[in-house]
Amino acid sequence: MPLISRQEIEATVKRLAAELNRDYRDKNPLLIGVLKGSFVFMADLARLLEFPVEIEFAILSSYGRGKETSGNVRVVHGLRTPVKGRDIIVIEDIIDSGLTVAHFLEYLRKRRPASLKLCALADKASRRRTEIAIDYLGFPVPDKFLVGYGLDWDEKFRNLPDICALEE
Ligand code: IMP
Ligand code: MG
Repeated sequence: MPLISRQEIEATVKRLAAELNRDYRDKNPLLIGVLKGSFVFMADLARLLEFPVEIEFAILSSYGRGKETSGNVRVVHGLRTPVKGRDIIVIEDIIDSGLTVAHFLEYLRKRRPASLKLCALADKASRRRTEIAIDYLGFPVPDKFLVGYGLDWDEKFRNLPDICALEE
């Protein structure tokens, strides 16, 4: 049994797109997907946006191959598009401890964007180790290790269309 079915995901991605369409109607934001986990969500979300967008990806290292973040975050692949003066929307798959995205938001803030918002598909709030404001949130999720819809365990299961909790 999936924890979140593809139908629920689809409805939620539509709801998030509607929120973004309302807030960015006359803007031209830069969407930055955090690889690899955000690639499926980003692809679905971006196609529902009704304003002009540009797409970028960043690679952050933190997790290694285990289930815990090391807290030691690096921007491995930065951006080719200048951030200064742009409206930025960071697209994340899931916020867990929050350390990865906190580091990336700080990296972006230093580059002086006009605005900086965070859109995340899932939020494991009970695991948070630093305060993070999620401006556009899909689902609050329980403290379980999730796979599917971009989320992996040891690089596997990213292609599952539903989100499932891994058996311990
Ligand atoms: P954080 O720094 O602890 O918030 O970790 C964030 C990153 O870890 C996410 O962007 C995911 O790529 C990964 N991650 C966190 N929880 C899960 C999970 O349940 N399944 C798969 N990946 C996860
Ligand atoms: Mg990620």
